[in-house]
Amino acid sequence: MAAYGWLICVMLLMVGSLASSQNVLGHNHSKYPPDLSTICHDDSLTKGYKCEDYDVITDDGYVLRMHRFPQGRINYRGRGKKPPVYLQHGVLVDASNWFTVSHADQALPLILVEAGFDVWLGNTRGTRYSRKHVSGNFSNSDDYWDFTFSEMGKYDLPAFIDFVILQTGQKVHYMGHSLGTTQFFAAFSEWKVEKKVKTATLLSPISFLNHITAKGAIIAAKAYIPEIVGTFGISHINLKVQPLSAITYALCNFPGVNCWEVFAGFSGPNCCMNASTVNLYLHNWPQAAPIKTLIHLSQNIRTGVFSKYDYGDPATNLQHYGVPEAPIYDLQTSIPKDFPLMLCHGGPDALADPTDVQRTLSLLSSHRNIHQIYMDNYAHYDFVNAMTAKDDLYPDIVNFIRTHNHR
Ligand SMILES: *[C@@H]1O[C@H](CO)[C@@H](O)[C@H](O)[C@H]1NC(C)=O
Ligand SMILES: *[C@@H]1O[C@H](CO)[C@@H](O)[C@H](O)[C@H]1NC(C)=O
Ligand SMILES: *[C@@H]1O[C@H](CO)[C@@H](O)[C@H](O)[C@H]1NC(C)=O
Repeated sequence: MAAYGWLICVMLLMVGSLASSQNVLGHNHSKYPPDLSTICHDDSLTKGYKCEDYDVITDDGYVLRMHRFPQGRINYRGRGKKPPVYLQHGVLVDASNWFTVSHADQALPLILVEAGFDVWLGNTRGTRYSRKHVSGNFSNSDDYWDFTFSEMGKYDLPAFIDFVILQTGQKVHYMGHSLGTTQFFAAFSEWKVEKKVKTATLLSPISFLNHITAKGAIIAAKAYIPEIVGTFGISHINLKVQPLSAITYALCNFPGVNCWEVFAGFSGPNCCMNASTVNLYLHNWPQAAPIKTLIHLSQNIRTGVFSKYDYGDPATNLQHYGVPEAPIYDLQTSIPKDFPLMLCHGGPDALADPTDVQRTLSLLSSHRNIHQIYMDNYAHYDFVNAMTAKDDLYPDIVNFIRTHNHR
């Protein structure tokens, strides 16, 4: 039962916040810490590794925070310049998500650093360190939150990738988790990914959402909950407020509960998370997300197609897309035939269901460089935070990008 507790809390909170003031949803931005407390300055996350902050500006004016881990503890013995890898997190988290583990040798970015890569992490627009806009205090306005994963793929990813190329003079290896994979699929239809990216490793890849088993997401989509919240003029949700933290902590304190189970209704039953790291996670979770992203995902859950945001009427779609219906993301033609793509997915993953991943793979059956790793025990969060991934998953990923580094 605890598994669905979190979800019920979120729904109660959404409904509750409609009745009370919008401040519940976190419009007081002064509570976000100043720059000096970014992920780079938090040893509980970086495990003491050298970390640098950069601000990157997108074509539509969003100022996004990027972190770089330039060097490991072991001296780099490889020849030439280190190949850059850029990692992109999913929804409701930020780059801290890659570090919700207890030991440095369990964090994918740090493993990549020690393997001789130059590691860069993006923070999606709207998350705590990516709230600025060139036009000033724009994040107070509803217009700021008018985006979905389509804009992330169209603006954020190119900005991050161009920046890394500018700094390193090399094409990048891409790695994304969850919505970090959806934006990457979206990116293929917007710009020439293959000219800038050597390989892509997609953890819990999400494009089609026909078979998701996350009960909460299904209920929310079928009941049009994000749409309803949107009609109240709420542009984004920021659940980092006391009641939710308190309720989650309370659920976690039931005797014998591995608190990660509280999240299982959303992610599927994660096999290999360290129960002791949940406080670190709760300290950094959840990050704000626009209602529009949740509506967009709900649309794709209901329709079973992977498409751009549907504005709901032909005239408005025409205005945005030049056609009356929301355009479908055509993975078959937009992904180049020889692009090295690795999909890592898991049996009990409630969001990236194996049937949906197979549908993506079957679309790519005539492509020549598609790889997959199937983890029969991994659910959604295991791909970033499992204690075992350093042994049973990440070595294969490192091997994959090394093999294709010459491109
Ligand atoms: C915003 O939060 C800060 C820190 O909690 C507080 O000092 C400040 O008074 C708040 N501002 C408003 C307008 O509520
Ligand atoms: C689990 O986390 C605790 C606390 O951080 C740590 O002491 C322990 O070594 C971790 N276990 C594993 C297997 O990583
Ligand atoms: C900042 O936001 C406030 C309230 O939303 C607005 O009145 C003010 O003009 C904005 N300032 C700038 C510099 O954009």
